[in-house]
Amino acid sequence: MATDNGLVLIVDDEPLNVDLLEQELAAERYRTVAARSGEEALKRAAESHPDLILLDVMMGGIDGYETCRRLKAQEATRSIPVIFLTALSDTLEKVRGFRAGAVDYLTKPFETEELLARVGTHIALRREIEAHRQAKATINVLVEEIRADHASMIGESPAMRRLTQMIAQVAPTDSTVLIQGETGTGKELVARAIHDSSARRDRPLVKVNCAALPRELVESELFGHEKGAFTGALQQRRGRFELADGGTLFLDEIGEMPLEAQAKLLRVLQERELERVGGSRTLRIDVRVIAATNRDVQAQIDGGRFRSDLFYRLNVFPLAIPPLRERRDDIALLIDHFATRMARKLGRPAALPSRFVELAAGYAWPGNIRELENLVERALILSDGHARDAAEFFDSAPAVPVMPAAASAAPATLEEMERAHIVHTLDATRWRIEGDSGAAQLLGLNPSTLRGRMRKLGIRKPV
Ligand SMILES: Nc1ncnc2c1ncn2[C@@H]1O[C@H](COP(=O)(O)OP(=O)(O)OP(=O)(O)O)[C@@H](O)[C@H]1O
Ligand SMILES: [Mg+2]
Repeated sequence: MATDNGLVLIVDDEPLNVDLLEQELAAERYRTVAARSGEEALKRAAESHPDLILLDVMMGGIDGYETCRRLKAQEATRSIPVIFLTALSDTLEKVRGFRAGAVDYLTKPFETEELLARVGTHIALRREIEAHRQAKATINVLVEEIRADHASMIGESPAMRRLTQMIAQVAPTDSTVLIQGETGTGKELVARAIHDSSARRDRPLVKVNCAALPRELVESELFGHEKGAFTGALQQRRGRFELADGGTLFLDEIGEMPLEAQAKLLRVLQERELERVGGSRTLRIDVRVIAATNRDVQAQIDGGRFRSDLFYRLNVFPLAIPPLRERRDDIALLIDHFATRMARKLGRPAALPSRFVELAAGYAWPGNIRELENLVERALILSDGHARDAAEFFDSAPAVPVMPAAASAAPATLEEMERAHIVHTLDATRWRIEGDSGAAQLLGLNPSTLRGRMRKLGIRKPV
């Protein structure tokens, strides 16, 4: 296929001029299309999407300036470069052309060399611009995708629906939120979701991990310090509250905060103002606070490790995130979500071992969604296109107590424990129910009783 250099629309009411331009351009492998008036030019430009327009100024009907203005006013033709063809060398005329949106002009009579140089330059420039615009659009799409991915909370279970609804209700307010949930249930994700759907979304979401802060630095981290406030305070420093001004402060693992810092935090939450450590100036702050903990706060209050007045200050809007074992309906969805995402990252199909979902459904998930996410990643990496036994992933999962109650603070229901225990035992016996060392014997049941329990609990041998 003979490639050409682009399509040029020639607009001139003088046929001889058009012929001449057509020949010169064709000799340099440009395709051309012609229009004899401004009105016709608008039509041709919209339907043939030329790479460039050569536009005569003096024409019957609408003149070149008006034609150019209309081209620039239309979405479809706006980005096509226009070069004016003018018989006048008057500077004012040229300026009018640029004002109308032209990128260049040629004064008649012009040299072929000059015509080709200008046409070539502007077509190349436009292609650069288009490529740039497209790259930018692609990046925007990718960024959006990352954001959406990051923010998407998967789950259709009634518990998740309730949670999503509560997030939507509390997000637009400035109320303090206390998120409680076991490790890996998505507390941080929820904090981000609240921030992202609040009016503060364009301001920072600042996170403080209260468990990771050295005791002696908690206050200076939260409230900042003045130069010389303590040994080592060589510079004035703004605290996280100040950094979050106008936005949201996420106090993660609030249960780990030292008592002395709790008193100061309480004051800041009440007064909405603070002084930097070693400073006397009072700063007003506009910060929405979201706190999270995986601890039983009540037990900590009872044990004197957490101030009850601070708890009530924080617990304005409590959000309890249920552990994964209490919303098993979500397990398959989550596996699918993480497998798809991970597969894309690894550049391989999202093929998990065949019984993976089934075993996952009966597993206790003490590490909740984070554990599930990690396990899916491991299974995808190790499977590497080869069929593997799903059981090995659940067996080799590190420090995984299969009994739900063994690992979690909140006790599972009896039925969940029973289910998990039966699935575990069946796995251990490779789903052999009867005979010596069969699952029924290990569980101290008749095989038919075990089958009955399995039916009732919806436990089926994976295919
Ligand atoms: N509903 C959900 N849908 C999709 N991904 C989720 C969901 N909940 C949590 N995750 C993912 O699980 C992982 C753990 O979530 P997150 O860090 O928010 O948990 P956490 O409760 O803060 O845990 P920890 O107590 O250990 O700090 C993250 O990668 C998060 O994106
Ligand atoms: Mg967390």
